Amino acid sequence: MGTETSSSRVPYFLRTARLGFRCWSREDLPNAWALWGDPRVTRLIGGPFSREAVSDRLDREIATERARGIQYWPTFFLRSDEFVGAVGLRPYPADRRALELGVHLRPEFWGQGLAEEAARATIQYGFHQTDAEFLVAGHHPENGSSRRLLCKLGFVQTGSELYPPTGLVHPIYRLDRSTASIHADST
Ligand SMILES: CC(C)(COP(=O)(O)OP(=O)(O)OC[C@H]1O[C@@H](n2cnc3c(N)ncnc32)[C@H](O)[C@@H]1OP(=O)(O)O)[C@@H](O)C(=O)NCCC(=O)NCCS
Repeated sequence: MGTETSSSRVPYFLRTARLGFRCWSREDLPNAWALWGDPRVTRLIGGPFSREAVSDRLDREIATERARGIQYWPTFFLRSDEFVGAVGLRPYPADRRALELGVHLRPEFWGQGLAEEAARATIQYGFHQTDAEFLVAGHHPENGSSRRLLCKLGFVQTGSELYPPTGLVHPIYRLDRSTASIHADST
């Protein structure tokens, strides 16, 4: 199953200099599989995942958008409409005042600053379009790229918690609205 470009019938609701965001639909299953079916992507987030697990994940993303108006949105390279990955927000059950930031890119798009670019747009969205008081994020203890990214974005480690998909205790970070505005323009 190959990846597909963004469908022209669905406009992007959020754009950065290089990226466009839209919402998942069931027709995106090939994109979902290209991302969450890739063991390089999921190595440190609880994978590898079966086709059934990826299909269930897609359903959950669609359901979260319906219920809360957020998801880990499918994100596309504006110049080519290529599928880059999923970047967005999800509920954080441990604290209802918070939303959790997630950044999952296809390996072809690592090392170009695209995760940072997408995450910055998502943070702005989170603080302007939702009632989140703060954002949280975590990462596998060995995920140095994720740690670097979160620090660049202004997240501060506040503790650690068990992340059931990996069975490990992950460091947890927090970003407050005031800190986010300070970091909004820094690159
Ligand atoms: C974690 C992940 C999102 C990080 O992606 P990334 O591409 O490394 O992150 P960035 O967008 O911040 O890019 C950083 C690199 O791009 C380089 N870069 C190149 N062009 C750049 C530009 N125009 N602007 C900024 N950085 C640029 C930077 O120098 C930096 O390299 P460094 O980290 O060695 O200093 C990615 O590895 C991934 O999707 N992993 C799989 C899923 C995952 O584990 N997610 C994290 C848990 S939610």
